[in-house]
Amino acid sequence: KRVAILISGRGSNMTAILDAAKASNYPADIALVLANKPDAKGLETAADHGIATEVVDHRNYKGDRSAFDAQIQKKLEEHKIELVVLAGFMRILTAEFVGKWTDKMINIHPSLLPSFKGLNTHQRAIDTGCRLAGCSVHFVRADMDSGPIICQAAVPVLNDDTADSLAGRILKAEHKIYPRAVALVAGDKVLVDGMRVRIKDDGN
Ligand code: GRF
Repeated sequence: KRVAILISGRGSNMTAILDAAKASNYPADIALVLANKPDAKGLETAADHGIATEVVDHRNYKGDRSAFDAQIQKKLEEHKIELVVLAGFMRILTAEFVGKWTDKMINIHPSLLPSFKGLNTHQRAIDTGCRLAGCSVHFVRADMDSGPIICQAAVPVLNDDTADSLAGRILKAEHKIYPRAVALVAGDKVLVDGMRVRIKDDGN
């Protein structure tokens, strides 16, 4: 399947996926990396991997979200994309755009959803006294961070954790589960049933 990865910054999740996609039997072909910021570090990494890149700068659409999304859609069509992977993509997409990619667009969020949707998830988990934090890969729906969950990883919160130290350990877990989740979805191993996701050929 032809996959586009959307980024806004360093793209460490993108890099983990690009590395996994080098395996000959990986069911996804990373055909495009698209950023909403021209200076997104991940664009260089993508170019180094020989991946096509595009920039759709949200500042050129001053608040007209549907025009911004329409330009992204145009680029995805030009590159014949079949699956969209949001990886550190920090823009809210319109319900109209999301609706075009139902069950064909996934995101990684740095919390154990449904807890801690939104931002500053690590500090919130620490402040709430959670013993476990983590990350979740989910299908994108119009409501932010609210789609059916594909996979998760739990990461213990340590006594002396700061948001940064916890974030560092969770990011490592993200780099493990996201490449696997992309392979499952690209390989059509994932069935969505309402909020429930079933993984074919898998015990759980
Ligand atoms: C990560 O914490 C990810 O969970 C969130 O954005 C952060 C940056 O990811 N979606 P990356 O290094 O740009 O992939």
